[in-house]
Amino acid sequence: MVKAVVLGAAGGIGQPLSLLLKCNPLITELSLYDIVNTPGVAADLSHIATPAKVTGFLPPDEGLTKALTGAQVVIIPAGVPRKPGMTRDDLFKINAGIVEGLATGIATTAPKAFVLVISNPVNSTVPIVAEVFKKHNVFDPKRIFGVTTLDVVRASTFVAEIVGDLSKAPDVVVPVVGGHSGVTIVPLISQSSHPLPSGFSGEKLDALVNRIQFGGDEVVKAKDGAGSATLSMAYAGAEFAIKVVNALNGQKGIVAPSFVHLTADPAGGEALKKEIGADLEYFSAPVELGPDGVVKINSLGKITDAEKKLVDAAVPDLTKNIQTGIAFTKKSN
Ligand code: NAI
Repeated sequence: MVKAVVLGAAGGIGQPLSLLLKCNPLITELSLYDIVNTPGVAADLSHIATPAKVTGFLPPDEGLTKALTGAQVVIIPAGVPRKPGMTRDDLFKINAGIVEGLATGIATTAPKAFVLVISNPVNSTVPIVAEVFKKHNVFDPKRIFGVTTLDVVRASTFVAEIVGDLSKAPDVVVPVVGGHSGVTIVPLISQSSHPLPSGFSGEKLDALVNRIQFGGDEVVKAKDGAGSATLSMAYAGAEFAIKVVNALNGQKGIVAPSFVHLTADPAGGEALKKEIGADLEYFSAPVELGPDGVVKINSLGKITDAEKKLVDAAVPDLTKNIQTGIAFTKKSN
């Protein structure tokens, strides 16, 4: 019996994500909140023959509070997406306020819920959620997650393409660590479950890393002004959300990369900071999930010198992005 809530449910990501969640039999209640169109989306989904009872909410009449009451998992894809030429950081001005408002609703109505943040820039919006929760004295770092799964999904797909067998894509596991924008996205190709062909190194390897880091730009360019990744993001968001739901239901040993506050596992977080060589507050690393959220933050393990350079290159942007998020909430207090 799990109640999941999607905030921003009428959007390009929100609709297909809600569809995928509706298809999962473990979810018995699905609340959809947006500033527009949720009654229609909810009515449509409610005809699908799966267990979840679907309800749509709008801002009037305390819609956000009603949507969030009793929530165990809250997923946030609310906010504006990129257009060609924009970086994720360009979205900050609009999305920071949206995420802050929604986080306030969660902190006051469902403070124990797992919060999965999709809205960009994730490296900054996750700190915003955390700061709002701190302000309301309900901060639990084990329960706040930045969704970086799309980078992991892209890495699996692109590696399977190179291996020459797309049917292997669902089984390819490539840890992607760091953060979720540009050079902060660090794929650890050397740890791929499916090794690349011999001789796949140098420029070819650099191009693969670059494609994973900037894969989002391919979609933004192809959509030509109509937004960024929505369908692949919905797939990735649902994949991560279902892992969280399975962990909530007691399934053991679930590990997935996510952008988390490193005190979620103090010992693991400290060890990770030593590995990275920087005193970061947040980092995306493979985390083990349990019924109360993060159980363990895993180390990066054995990485190559080139991958260590990528980690080093990610640190300045990550530091800046995290600070931007924290400073925003301080300013708006
Ligand atoms: P969209 O514009 O299609 O949908 C956004 C939805 O949010 C709209 O329905 C809008 O009405 C709603 N919304 C706006 N303000 C709201 C508020 N205060 N409360 C509730 N809902 C509100 O955008 P799309 O394509 O669905 O993208 C959403 C976000 O996800 C963007 O910030 C985008 O950058 C991000 N994204 C994140 C990815 C990731 O890997 N984490 C990948 C792709 C996109």
